[in-house]
Amino acid sequence: MNALERTFAMIKPDAVAGGHTGEILAMAEQAGFRIVALRRIRMSRLEAEAFYAVHRERPFFPSLVNFITEGPCVVAVLEAENAIARWRELMGPTDPAKAPEGTIRKRFGTNIERNAVHGSDAPETAAVEVPFFFSSADLL
Ligand code: RTP
Ligand code: MG
Repeated sequence: MNALERTFAMIKPDAVAGGHTGEILAMAEQAGFRIVALRRIRMSRLEAEAFYAVHRERPFFPSLVNFITEGPCVVAVLEAENAIARWRELMGPTDPAKAPEGTIRKRFGTNIERNAVHGSDAPETAAVEVPFFFSSADLL
């Protein structure tokens, strides 16, 4: 039997402002994820720059920080078998134009930047991103 895994998920400001938080969480639950922790936040520029530090040298970095700080996000920890890969599969690729039917980015994404959701890309990333927003007492 495979062990349960946890991933960090974020509903980005475009999808929160669009009123899609409930639908995205419902898609997660319907796909078998358990919502272990959930919170609505407004990221500061400093937090956004730290959260996306791996992209600091990329040309899209300033625009990404503007986008992620433009309004509230909803952050969550999702649990399932193989949660990291399965959540990224449910999100779809970075560019919503390339996203298959049934994915969150196909349904709610606008373009390669305003793409509705985030998910950790590896266990090492999840191990940094979960505690970035949640303390162990939040994880029930
Ligand atoms: P995420 O980290 O948000 O889950 O998305 P991802 O792994 O699919 O994509 P990543 O390459 O890590 O990029 C992080 C976020 O930066 C924005 N982006 N803009 N303008 C562009 O070419 C561009 N490329 C990426 C997106 O919001 C992307 O999700
Ligand atoms: Mg990424």
